[in-house]
Amino acid sequence: MRMYDIIHKKRIGQELSREEIRFFLQGYVEGTVPDYQASALLMAIFFQGMTQRETAALTLEMAASGDQADLSAIPGIKVDKHSTGGVGDKTSLVIGPIAAACGAKIAKMSGRGLGHTGGTVDKLESIPGLRTDLPREMFFKIVNETGLAMIGQSGNLCPADKKLYALRDVTATVESIPLIASSIMSKKLAAGADAILLDVKVGTGAFMKTPEDAEALAQEMVRIGCQVGRKTIALITDMDMPLGRNIGNSLEVLEACEVLRGRGDPRLRALCLELGAHMVYLAQEAETLETAREKARQAVDSGRAFQKFCQMAAAQGGDVSCLQEEKGLPLSQMRWEVKMPETGFLTRIDAEVCGLAAVELGAGRETKESEIDLGAGIVLLKNTGDYAQAGEPIAYLYAQNRGRCLRGEERLLSALQVGSKQPAPHPLVLKQIEA
Ligand code: URA
Repeated sequence: MRMYDIIHKKRIGQELSREEIRFFLQGYVEGTVPDYQASALLMAIFFQGMTQRETAALTLEMAASGDQADLSAIPGIKVDKHSTGGVGDKTSLVIGPIAAACGAKIAKMSGRGLGHTGGTVDKLESIPGLRTDLPREMFFKIVNETGLAMIGQSGNLCPADKKLYALRDVTATVESIPLIASSIMSKKLAAGADAILLDVKVGTGAFMKTPEDAEALAQEMVRIGCQVGRKTIALITDMDMPLGRNIGNSLEVLEACEVLRGRGDPRLRALCLELGAHMVYLAQEAETLETAREKARQAVDSGRAFQKFCQMAAAQGGDVSCLQEEKGLPLSQMRWEVKMPETGFLTRIDAEVCGLAAVELGAGRETKESEIDLGAGIVLLKNTGDYAQAGEPIAYLYAQNRGRCLRGEERLLSALQVGSKQPAPHPLVLKQIEA
């Protein structure tokens, strides 16, 4: 077999066999297939798509490319959650603790930021001392003792996805249904949970821009999950506007803590409670979704969910004094105020452009090797639908220097549309997909 022929076959729109997919993945992981050939194949897949059979084969081969976690040392039903990626999407930091406070076992392996979207591992690492590279025994011990631990995709879990994910991030090949479905589901299958909740984002800030594409992605992932006997539910949720007020790693952890304290942006809180309730339901800690919703709400309002988050952070080595309101996490040294350009309603804040503004500020990676500034990002004082006078502050930007602030400001201003009529609110959960 030759990589050239595989690339050519896909380029002309033919179906790849499972053996060809395995040849590519094994070669890429071992280093015999170079980045330039992998990039060419990714681009061919991006334009030609994949059949259901190819996507399932790609998923299973990626899951088999490394270790497959055996979570049997953790008694009970283990539930995992994955978001397809959004801007300001810090829900995993909130719903894991909610579900654990309701009795579920959450052994979560998360990813880093991709493109204009953030990643849970980068966010968690903004808590000083917190480790996301724990050895397996310690990971299990923390889950057994606190009900919850969140680590990075460990050493050899889905090495094929790890390499491809980083390559896609810098070759403009992220927004592809088969590539996203196989990337997410391979990790979820290898991570070993019994049940999987998928938050499929749709809108300008998401990789899926239309409800039709989001539904196709959700169907594909639910189909793969169910094929291999994992109960899988997908919620399609809005990502046309940034989720919550904060974008950037430390800033998002601080906002997650706000929601866990029973406060915070109402839209973010509502989504966290809904996703949290689905986790509780999938973990069979409630008989109906209605009961699960009530349990999730009580977990937040009683402070138990916030306590769970602190327990987890402490067990993973984090300095939890930074999660208390009085102290807070370190932010970048420069704070820059952005003013409303003209009086009126913010009829639109393009979430993707906000994500790109956060990357300009240093909160995301521009190349595979880029170091990110965990303290950089955006605090939106106004979001879509809000009214402001010209010159009123609408956002604070955090970055290491003035150049970054200026570039971030220019981007952020280009994300705004101002009008005289208040726009209709966006629905938050558009659809639920189950087998
Ligand atoms: N999240 C993933 O894990 N993979 C993707 O391809 C996109 C979002």
